Amino acid sequence: MNLPNLSDARVRTKDKSIIKRDDYVVPSSVKDIGRNKYYHILTYGCQMNVHDSENIGAIMEDMKYTRVDDMDKADVIVINTCAIRENAHNKVMGMLGRIKHLREIRPDIITIFCGCMAQEEGISKELKDNYKWVDIVMGTHNIHKLPLYMEELVNNKKQEIEVFSIEGDIIEGIPVKRDSKYKAWVNIMYGCDKFCTYCIVPYTRGKQRSRLPEDIINEVNELVKSGYKEVTLLGQNVNAYGKDLDINYNMANLLEDVSKTNIPRIRFVTSHPWDFTEEMINVISKCDNIMPYIHLPIQSGSNRILKLMNRRYTKEEYITLFNKLREYMPNCSISTDIIVGFPGETSKDFKETLDVVNELKFDLAYTFIYSPREGTPASNMKDDTTLEEKKDRLSKLNKLVNKYALLNNKKYKNKIVDVLIEGESDKNGKYMGYTDTMKLVNVSCDKKYVGSIVKVKITDVKTWSMDGVVVDD
Ligand code: 5AD
Ligand code: SF4
Repeated sequence: MNLPNLSDARVRTKDKSIIKRDDYVVPSSVKDIGRNKYYHILTYGCQMNVHDSENIGAIMEDMKYTRVDDMDKADVIVINTCAIRENAHNKVMGMLGRIKHLREIRPDIITIFCGCMAQEEGISKELKDNYKWVDIVMGTHNIHKLPLYMEELVNNKKQEIEVFSIEGDIIEGIPVKRDSKYKAWVNIMYGCDKFCTYCIVPYTRGKQRSRLPEDIINEVNELVKSGYKEVTLLGQNVNAYGKDLDINYNMANLLEDVSKTNIPRIRFVTSHPWDFTEEMINVISKCDNIMPYIHLPIQSGSNRILKLMNRRYTKEEYITLFNKLREYMPNCSISTDIIVGFPGETSKDFKETLDVVNELKFDLAYTFIYSPREGTPASNMKDDTTLEEKKDRLSKLNKLVNKYALLNNKKYKNKIVDVLIEGESDKNGKYMGYTDTMKLVNVSCDKKYVGSIVKVKITDVKTWSMDGVVVDD
């Protein structure tokens, strides 16, 4: 048993990350364990987790389990959790209750708890003390060891908890079963060293560490060969890519090299305003297959709050960067993240956030009420704003954000845009996909277009989506 520990999770040394290429092994005793059995994965949280679940799916299939969409039919249930805010946490605890109930009917169901919540000291201890029926608890650093934990579970028939609070290595060679045949997530780096004061990620995901460029390029080349149309380069703070490598190679270099693979579409998330260089902007604007869409979290429009958040930029610096992006790429869409109700946020601070939204008119903003995370510096800051007031701020902010989302979308009416058609939409009989600028479009078209990038004429626009018809028949 190995439980997480917050003070170890905080440690950052100057040690180089180790690349491990042979650490994923499926012992022969579990190679066949899943034959005629089913697994179901519940995924909470960000794209990083979604991609981890694609790894876990492939690992389960290496043990011959078959995926099932209906959780009630599963022999193994994996809960891949998120720790970023309290509500994600509550959803997971609610789901554990449901699984417990299922187990009362079928006691042989295996439950695996993983992801960022497992990295939290309090949670893993709670699972150890009060959720003995959860069979395997593993953290974000050791997904690849799942077959070993399955082997131990079979042998010992008791709860297996292994969560490491380490800076982390780079594990290559974990298999992946991608959810889509057209769009792929590609990790370019792991972890985060920014330590924004509200954020749990640097503690749950370890230090910022970059994969080698050749490993990333090889992965993208394989995807091109398999007919993929889009890759999203993933990292908590992708602009810092390469800073920890011994070679002189940065995010701009990586984007340029990924562009040369000729994958039709390249996206990347998430950018931090701090490391967004002019060199990167040049590459993005010059390469046609790098999509004109940037997610650039601002978090707050108040310099006082930005400082308390340890974001390392001012509102003015953010605005300068934003304007530069628009200057180089006039059609680029820009989205953001905003937190309201950070400890000590006054109505004046909040008004400054509204002012920035009014000035920059984001294409989209993901908005959140601040949620205290145990162990982060902000959780010890004095917070005397009531929840009611915070909800009121959120609703005012959302109104404004939605207004600009619609206004931006209106510019698309009657325009012809490129859409990668991904599959059926939940809107009757239509298909869905995204423009290069990441606008969701419900398209009336034939099924044959699924998996292709097609020209679509936008016929109607709403706040969250648009409607369109294919024009190049
Ligand atoms: N409370 C609320 N929102 C948070 N985020 C990160 N941590 C917290 C927190 N403790 C938001 C930030 C980040 C996004 C992924 O989640 O806006 O950019
Ligand atoms: Fe969290 Fe800040 Fe790192 Fe983003 S940059 S993951 S908000 S600490």
